[in-house]
Amino acid sequence: FSMQILSSIGLGPFLGMDPVPTAIIQKYEGSFLSFIKGVLGGDLQTLAGGPLFLLLNKYFLEYGPIFNLAFGPKAFLVISDPVMAKHILRDRTTDQYCKGMLAEILEPIMGKGLIPADPITWRVRRRAIVPAFHKKWLNSMVGLFNARAQILSRDLETKNNQVVDMEERFCSVTLDIIGKAVFNYDFGSVTKESPIVKAVYRVLREAEHRSSSFIPYWNLPYADQWMGGQVEFRRDMTMLDDILADLINDAVATRREASVEELEERENSDDPSLLRFLVDMRGEDLSSSVLRDDLMTMLIAGHETTAAMLTWTLFELSNAEPGMLKEVQKEVRTVLADKESPDYDDIVAMKKLRYALIEGLRLYPEPPVLIRRARTEDCLPQGSSDIRGGIKVLRGSDIFISTWNLHRSPDLWENPEKYDPTRWERPFKNDKIPDWNGYNPDKISGLYPNEQATDFAFLPFGGGSRKCVGDQFAMIEAACTMATLMNRYDFEFEGSPDDVGMQTGATIHTMNGLRMRPRKVSVNDPLPSADGWWEKQHLKRGLSANG
Ligand code: HEM
Repeated sequence: FSMQILSSIGLGPFLGMDPVPTAIIQKYEGSFLSFIKGVLGGDLQTLAGGPLFLLLNKYFLEYGPIFNLAFGPKAFLVISDPVMAKHILRDRTTDQYCKGMLAEILEPIMGKGLIPADPITWRVRRRAIVPAFHKKWLNSMVGLFNARAQILSRDLETKNNQVVDMEERFCSVTLDIIGKAVFNYDFGSVTKESPIVKAVYRVLREAEHRSSSFIPYWNLPYADQWMGGQVEFRRDMTMLDDILADLINDAVATRREASVEELEERENSDDPSLLRFLVDMRGEDLSSSVLRDDLMTMLIAGHETTAAMLTWTLFELSNAEPGMLKEVQKEVRTVLADKESPDYDDIVAMKKLRYALIEGLRLYPEPPVLIRRARTEDCLPQGSSDIRGGIKVLRGSDIFISTWNLHRSPDLWENPEKYDPTRWERPFKNDKIPDWNGYNPDKISGLYPNEQATDFAFLPFGGGSRKCVGDQFAMIEAACTMATLMNRYDFEFEGSPDDVGMQTGATIHTMNGLRMRPRKVSVNDPLPSADGWWEKQHLKRGLSANG
């Protein structure tokens, strides 16, 4: 069953910007029934015949680093180029590009929280929130990460050699961590099921469905009173809002106002949460709803993203040449020696593990597209495109920056589809893109190779002013969790890696879970022998520039 329907009803191409090529979603390869379901449900993923980012990748390889994507009455400018991405994310002011349709979709859940926030709200809130992620707090979070990873590790012990869905386990542990870190609230989802946890997941699924829908069905008149999923959504949101309101009220009732500097030094082991910090912070506006909005935003932003990084890293490591996994295991078990979990310095010492995690985010960026809307007309630099004379962006244009395409571009990476954590130790450059400075490992500052070191070819946490505030938090959390598990377990696929599959919402999920068998290793087992696998990768490539 294939059809040209979308192009025939599509006004998209007429909204396109000459001379940018236009890709029209026109060939549908699913069943007739699922097509009807996709149209009626307004579901882009169903219409695209699979995850949208895969379709964008197909068009990227066909049309190049900038093209219009048109379907029905909509058109998007899809960008997969580091020079253009840097221009939009970093060089232009936050007033010039806003979150556009992402903000419209997320507003009912996150309100004016930091992710969807309009430029004016964002400026005030970003200034309030960034200090809460100070270094001392991040260090203190290591204890929380390890304690929660230990609970997971002990739980796996009861399932030794049995099949476990590790994606579900990672989602649970990251939910428990973010609950404690943001509100000092214990979801306890690793060890028990609860109506609240179920409500959180249903809200997340609804947010994801909205973000891949082209019909704002949730805005239909009184949808929350008659539309099945929307009635449930309203009920779930009410439950979560009530819990959040109680937590905020409790924190406000015990407020001890102080300056940021004083708060950074304050002993807070009974409640180290971001909520406590923000409520106690002098000058914080406690009467408005922005505090609720920001806390809800961080609960959602900091949960499945980290779970996805852990899931795909374990998937790729378990699927890779055995030497790679052994290198990482050996590093973890050597650094930890007889300890159960790492401290901050151990994480710094576990470079192979950190590169394995960040390589997971290269292949599976969360989210796989960044969404923007041009608030004023702009002119994009040429980057790697063949279009001369600058590319005009009309006011109101909706833009997708495809991190999936950037991270897998054949122009920017050696063997882009290959999971290879050693690549982060080799510089690369492509002279065909003169305005792109390439990747320089010497420019890494902090725990991971970031957008600065890659000159915006790699955007694991975005870039520019709207960059993720939780990047260090997430890296340390993922490293603590993975190190704790790898220290005690080997993992084996149940069935074939091909069974895992992929689907997307706001983050990339597996289709069928990450089904693995954990096998407990003994502290007396010899260290895995990797036979110099890591170094050999460099020798194979002559330590030369790639790309
Ligand atoms: C923004 C990714 C973890 C809070 C972002 C953005 C990305 C991202 C790509 C930029 C979005 C854009 O430009 O449109 C990730 C990934 C994570 C992660 C991959 C884990 C592996 C976290 C955590 C938190 C968090 C743990 C909070 C505790 C936020 C917030 C923003 C954001 C508040 C909005 C920043 C702003 O607009 O000023 N994240 N994130 N994220 N992230 Fe994360």
